Amino acid sequence: MAAERALEEGHTHYTEDKGIPALRRAIAEKENMKARADISEEQVLVTPGATGALFAACMSLIDCGDEVIIQAPSYPGHIRAVTVSGGKPVPVSLEEDYDFVMNLDELDEKVTSKTKVIIVSSPTNPTGTVFERDVLKAIVEIAVDNELFIVSDEVYEHFVYDDAEFGSVREFPGMEHRTVLVNSFSKTYAMTGWRIGYAIAPKEITSRMAKFSCASSMCVNSIAQYGALAALEGPQKCVDAMLTEYDERRRFVVKELSKIPGVRFVEPKGAFYVFPNVEELEMNSLELVKYLVREARVLLSPGYPFFGSKGRFHVRLSYTASLNALRIAMERINSALRELEGT
Ligand SMILES: Cc1ncc(COP(=O)(O)O)c(C=O)c1O
Repeated sequence: MAAERALEEGHTHYTEDKGIPALRRAIAEKENMKARADISEEQVLVTPGATGALFAACMSLIDCGDEVIIQAPSYPGHIRAVTVSGGKPVPVSLEEDYDFVMNLDELDEKVTSKTKVIIVSSPTNPTGTVFERDVLKAIVEIAVDNELFIVSDEVYEHFVYDDAEFGSVREFPGMEHRTVLVNSFSKTYAMTGWRIGYAIAPKEITSRMAKFSCASSMCVNSIAQYGALAALEGPQKCVDAMLTEYDERRRFVVKELSKIPGVRFVEPKGAFYVFPNVEELEMNSLELVKYLVREARVLLSPGYPFFGSKGRFHVRLSYTASLNALRIAMERINSALRELEGT
């Protein structure tokens, strides 16, 4: 509706390079309400999805050869944004044996004089981990001690379940000066195809990011900006309803996965993924994915893009499909894997 109206009203031209003021104000207001912060619209850059924000952040914060800490496993877009910007991704383990929480000793060890940025993403893709406050605090302390920036990817901020709570590194004292917050309309409002998200940073970093953004795309699609504004200003009940639905799917998938021999997993507390370990099935994850496509007509993601060579033991299952589709998929996966195991 809002997009149709924007078309009818002729909002079909370039906008301000940082995004239309009304949307930037609404984003600042939303984030201020969330975190009792004091963000001004000048700090907000509207971007083509979180992807555009991550890319603009990396282009603005790192020089060729700088090191950037990323989570391992991580969302592959983080590695892409770092490498395309000339940086070197340095993986720090999320420990499977400890519910995929970040190994803070390893983080401390991997920071060198070349490190410029830590990319923190919680809830995480692909593990569904939600970092607790003490973990975020420890990451913040390392960033402060070493004068690093944190790029905080918060696209799954609303997707938290059970007793898990979303927290942002930006909420720690002084972190507003060294955080680039990245968020998106893709997940919260299921607007992946609209390609709209945003970054929030100290004013001078936002201006630097805006130059990059302007050079690469001039501005974000005007109609999408009006659609995003309507999403923020409209009733938010749809977000709660979606979350309830996703939680039901999560519980179902976890219950069904636990029935499958040879598959172990950490129960996700956030996002909409499970990252099962399939090492016992004695097939690498790519072979397993191909087997399931052939035998079960179900597509999972192999672990490699998220976890490099360690990804041979993992697959990522996304529960964005309907409960009905998931019922069929889990039944088929179960019987195909039992056949494999001969049980
Ligand atoms: C952690 C994370 N960040 C960013 C993105 C990209 O989001 P967008 O569609 O807003 O570019 C994704 C997409 O799956 C993601 O999982």
